[in-house]
Amino acid sequence: APPPSVTIDNQTYATDSWFNIPPNVLSATSRQLHLQQDHPVAITRQILERVFPKPKFTTYNTHPPVVSTYQNFDSLGFPADHPGRSKSDTYYISRSTLLRTHTSAHQKQTFAFSNDASPGYLISADVYRRDEIDRCHYPVFHQMEGALTWDRRTVAGGDLAGAVWKDLEALPKHDIHVGDSNPAFHPKRNPLQIGHHTPSEAEAVAAHLKKSLEAMAVEIITRAREAAVASGISPQDAEQEEPLRVRWVEAYFPFTTPSWELEVFYGGDWLEVLGCGVVKQSLLVDAGTPCRVGWAFGIGLERIAMLLFNIPDIRLFWSRDERFLSQFAGLSAAVDKADFSGLRRFQPFSRFPECYKDVSFWLRSVSAAGGNTHGVGADDFHENDIMEIVREVAGDDVEDVRLVDEFTHPRTGRKSLCYRVNYRSLERTMTNEEVNAMHERVREKLVDRFRVELR
Ligand code: PHE
Repeated sequence: APPPSVTIDNQTYATDSWFNIPPNVLSATSRQLHLQQDHPVAITRQILERVFPKPKFTTYNTHPPVVSTYQNFDSLGFPADHPGRSKSDTYYISRSTLLRTHTSAHQKQTFAFSNDASPGYLISADVYRRDEIDRCHYPVFHQMEGALTWDRRTVAGGDLAGAVWKDLEALPKHDIHVGDSNPAFHPKRNPLQIGHHTPSEAEAVAAHLKKSLEAMAVEIITRAREAAVASGISPQDAEQEEPLRVRWVEAYFPFTTPSWELEVFYGGDWLEVLGCGVVKQSLLVDAGTPCRVGWAFGIGLERIAMLLFNIPDIRLFWSRDERFLSQFAGLSAAVDKADFSGLRRFQPFSRFPECYKDVSFWLRSVSAAGGNTHGVGADDFHENDIMEIVREVAGDDVEDVRLVDEFTHPRTGRKSLCYRVNYRSLERTMTNEEVNAMHERVREKLVDRFRVELR
């Protein structure tokens, strides 16, 4: 049964039957890694904030994580049946309050404060998503939201597109290789906002958005290379490992059009680092700033920190182990003074043994005709449910969980799943008994909560 209320950031919230937040996630709300001096998430925030300086951009870094469904979804135009709203994706306190799944939840309230003295903003905060378990995913992470708008009434000569292009000319030049092969507009997913923007206005805002975010990517990759070289990697190798290549990929968000994702070529692969687009005018109208036009982006800070410091596992950010934290000592103050000479690659401490355990179980048949009618049906079991149980039991002592087998019995129609859990601590060697006990508890919880039949 859910607790009748929960207290987060000194505020008490009433729960109802929608409550679905496990204790380990609830306790993470107090950590605020983006504000912890010398924490790599905070250092990354500081580096990015330098790319979008005050007073043009106002920073908001202390918004509490509890928001309304209106803020997180409705104000941004998410349809009523959007999968992001489901209890298998989102942590709810009650039907109408939740742990924000993205910093965009604060867009509308923040656009309301935009003005010509501060036409932009940055919001950094912890965000929460039920998700898979691997070295890049954790149910809590941090995002930075950024936006910039222009007021059509006050731009020079009343020429919005002209003013935006002029501002673009003033942005820092770079010579990275940018792939940009998608057309800006797509008739369904990313139409021009007819009646709000002319094509040339939308193109000017989009071009300004891309140039600004490319400048941010250059900053990140430059710092990552410097850190690599300062750690003893040869400049040629650093360049090999971090070539300056980015590309724009068309994307869809309910609150921007056109929209893109920016991908960075890193470690031999294209890594998605941010989502962005031209803000839907309806949002600015609702915010009480109908004459402002502009762009917004959202970026995951852990992803960027992993790239900057070569951090191999997202769980490390939550570690209180001095072998981790001490490697970043003094960097917050230095970065504040634009001194990046102390940036180094993270030196991993020895890896501890891994331990694989499988769990196989039957779900109830969907038709329910074939026998077992109690238990969770294949239609209402979500992979995130097992992820959460493993996190509840093993905490940070699990590295990844993967589906390794899945089949449906030809006669009964029942579905069987097999998941492989890799238990591994970042900080110590675990005993076999300890891992066996954890795995047994995972099995018990699966039966208790979902009435599956273990095999
Ligand atoms: N909120 C989006 C996400 O979390 C990112 C985004 C922010 C996209 C702002 C467009 C504009 O995926």
